[in-house]
Amino acid sequence: MKDLLRQARPFAATTRNRIVRATKIVFSFWRLSHFYYFALSRAFSGEHGRVIKGIRLFLDMDRRRQNTYSLRRNIHRLEKGLVMQPRRRLFALDYVDETVANYRNLCIQGSVDDSGLLDWSHDVLAEFFRVTPADPATGSARASFEALPARTTKKKCAPYPRSESPGSDIAYDQLLTLAQRRRSVRAYQKRPVPRELLDKAIQVGAQSASACNRQPFEFRVFDDEALVRPIMRIPGGTLGWEESPPMVIVVVGHLRAFSEERDRHLIYIDSALALMPLMLALETLGLGSCIINFPDIAEKNAAMEKLLGLNEDEIVTMLLSVGYPDADGLIPFSQKKSLGALRSYNRTA
Ligand SMILES: Cc1cc2nc3c(=O)[nH]c(=O)nc-3n(C[C@H](O)[C@H](O)[C@H](O)COP(=O)(O)O)c2cc1C
Repeated sequence: MKDLLRQARPFAATTRNRIVRATKIVFSFWRLSHFYYFALSRAFSGEHGRVIKGIRLFLDMDRRRQNTYSLRRNIHRLEKGLVMQPRRRLFALDYVDETVANYRNLCIQGSVDDSGLLDWSHDVLAEFFRVTPADPATGSARASFEALPARTTKKKCAPYPRSESPGSDIAYDQLLTLAQRRRSVRAYQKRPVPRELLDKAIQVGAQSASACNRQPFEFRVFDDEALVRPIMRIPGGTLGWEESPPMVIVVVGHLRAFSEERDRHLIYIDSALALMPLMLALETLGLGSCIINFPDIAEKNAAMEKLLGLNEDEIVTMLLSVGYPDADGLIPFSQKKSLGALRSYNRTA
């Protein structure tokens, strides 16, 4: 009987898969997907739970006017207003009060671990009030800002002419070679990764573009063997090489950065944009890396939440293994798409 059941298992699994797939096809028509994900599948329930918790945390920080994400976004909007040509005489009327209130409270609170944010906020607000005329619409924000102690920053953190950008002598061919040299590494030396090298690479990743410059993610770096191993076993895409890397970065997205559901994907977009230059920087430092997919599956999320003590709005967007490549380890060739397959000009259909 046992044997019979064992033999029937794969058959049962295939039949079940077929039924699930057929059901999905049926429910993909009309607006039946609403019903499917409401009544038959929990696939998105974790996501919408986290998204709405993120919104609650955002609104709570906003109510207390201690919202670093809102401040980042608004300072970014002020900078866009300042660089506009021609610049409008007055702008930001609908958000300058809350921007100054956030800046003021975060300065007073003194617990912001990102002093760069306060420097940037100060210099941009100072520039805004310098170039816009005194007006009743911005009067209370101006008075509140001017009552605060001025910050002296090493370098002015406000709009500057493009001609003052730092020069770079990296030629196209050098960048192309670096991009070609970077390939996913899955066999590493046991040698530990010096933290100062990792920090240097992160500083490159930190320069990446992000929506409204919010950077709604953090890099949790692990180089303690006792943590690296269990972390490497959670995602699933590491089978056969999970024992190799001496270091792993868990990229954690912060949904509390947003007040609207429509922005929920930015944690993935922004963290991925930051990771690629970080990987290229690792390559320049003699280190190899490999991105590891983190599937949005309840048990995997729960395992990571427990191990890392994640907040209710935090979700792992991906992992990155890091280490000195084993010189004898093989690298998949990974042929890239040809230019013709990858891009088109002015295509409308
Ligand atoms: C989002 C993402 C998820 C990935 N997940 C895994 C993974 O779970 N396991 C793995 O071995 N490689 C993973 N990779 C690495 C890809 O397999 C690899 O980037 C791809 O085959 C191209 O090779 P290259 O990185 O050497 O250019 C992932 C890459 C990306 C961008």
